Amino acid sequence: MRRLLIAANWKMHKVKAEAQQFAVEFLPRVAAVEKVDMVICPAFTGLSVMNSALAGSRVMLGAQNMYWEAQGAFTGEVSAAMLIDAGCRYVIIGHSERRHILGENNFMVHKKLAAALENGLKPILCVGETLQERENNLAMQVVQEQLQHALAGLDFEPEDVVIAYEPVWAIGTGINASYHDAQEMALFIRRGLAALSSEEAASKIRILYGGSVKADNIDKFLQQPDIDGALIGGASLEPASLAAMVGVGEHVK
Ligand code: 13P
Repeated sequence: MRRLLIAANWKMHKVKAEAQQFAVEFLPRVAAVEKVDMVICPAFTGLSVMNSALAGSRVMLGAQNMYWEAQGAFTGEVSAAMLIDAGCRYVIIGHSERRHILGENNFMVHKKLAAALENGLKPILCVGETLQERENNLAMQVVQEQLQHALAGLDFEPEDVVIAYEPVWAIGTGINASYHDAQEMALFIRRGLAALSSEEAASKIRILYGGSVKADNIDKFLQQPDIDGALIGGASLEPASLAAMVGVGEHVK
């Protein structure tokens, strides 16, 4: 049975004091949560303060990006070992904002994924099509290519990898994928994972939906048989809102 995972991607929001205040307000609200795994991914500068703030709670720490080399002359980059040292258990890889704004390609995503796994960080691999690709009926082809490139040749425990389906046109727009389309793609991803590894492994890999998820729409996504949680941007910035979504997860499946 796959445990639900609710992951907050704070993107480029919150200075240290804001992150700390979030933890003060959020943790009591989720203290009784048992069924849902929770991850918060602050900006790099918020990792240290959040690592301390989340200590002793069930909320885990994640990063939003990393570089694949272990160390060296890579100005501005952060390695997997540095993230582990900062307290991270998870790392978001291949987010569409990195792919589309910062020029990350499938090759880079694969290298990052491999380095994360090698170092014991659990990757949340983001895949998803643009609006144009969906309108041209290319959504599944694009997602399949992203998955194949990212995972090719990698050996991993299914519990250690999370896939987030985030259609680019649904991110930060207030427009969701329909529950039906999100489930259809999640099932397609699971079948693709089975082809890349095995049926058994694919049945253990968690697949999240992301894109304008909010407290008042998350339940229908979490009810879908192949959706095992959500990756949430804007609505994860308020403690009450994130706690409400975790609360839905606690009762939905
Ligand atoms: P929003 O929830 O703000 O649409 O962002 C989704 C996302 O990109 C999470 O990684």
